[in-house]
Amino acid sequence: MSMKGVVLAGGTGSRLFPLTKITNKHLLPVYDKPMIYYPIQTLVDAGIEDILIVTGGRNAGDFLRLLANGKEFGLTHLDYTYQEGEGGIAEALGLAHHFGAGHRLCVILGDNIIQGSIREAVEAFRKQPAGAKILLKEVEDAERFGVAEMADGKILGIEEKPKNPKSNLAVTGIYLYDETVFDKVQQLKRSDRGELEITDVNNAYIAEGSMTFAQLDGWWTDAGTFESLLRANNLVADTQKSKGE
Ligand code: DAU
Repeated sequence: MSMKGVVLAGGTGSRLFPLTKITNKHLLPVYDKPMIYYPIQTLVDAGIEDILIVTGGRNAGDFLRLLANGKEFGLTHLDYTYQEGEGGIAEALGLAHHFGAGHRLCVILGDNIIQGSIREAVEAFRKQPAGAKILLKEVEDAERFGVAEMADGKILGIEEKPKNPKSNLAVTGIYLYDETVFDKVQQLKRSDRGELEITDVNNAYIAEGSMTFAQLDGWWTDAGTFESLLRANNLVADTQKSKGE
């Protein structure tokens, strides 16, 4: 069955207050486009055209006004669903059940922006018999992310925002899952911060020995803090300027 795409753009963006007081974080500008354009384009560039957007908050209607049926991306249809509150990334993913059940999924966080393409990883995952695949990226501030613990070229586990990271490999917000992901989401318990954690989903795949990984080429950034939003703007601007030269 074909692979489907899910963009997670729920949550309240509290770390960007007051920018997010009257709009949704994923509608904020990143250089010359609204933030959510980038993850959608990443999916489309990888050949994934059946896409669900999970939104939330007070401005969810603006996503429909902005994106409509996805014509800007060469799409003829987009699916939408709504997350009440901000119960975590895995909770938002669970809301994709009606759309994704029985399919493989490429899930991308609405604030993750990359320079390159994920096409190769997606193609590799299509050939993988089962399980999941994550994309890792070397970073200097690993304590801000999910961090992979590695040994002998294998991934042993992931720690969410560890004070003392066991590597400098961040788990990016781009996840490839087989159709068992919804069972795994269903078995989750809320973390100390009250969320259903995507890291727990990934650790469930690692525990069953079915997780693969690849390193992401080119730059990668999130855009959920003032620092990283500024960084995202600068990276996109620099990349576009160097393309134009
Ligand atoms: O950016 C990569 C990182 O994203 C990973 O390394 C971490 O393992 C992962 O937990 C996540 O960390 P953050 O703390 O940066 O996630 P944040 O709460 O900022 O949420 C990221 C996006 O996920 C957000 O832009 C929209 C979506 N989201 C988040 C929450 C909490 C939802 O759709 N619903 C939610 O309830």
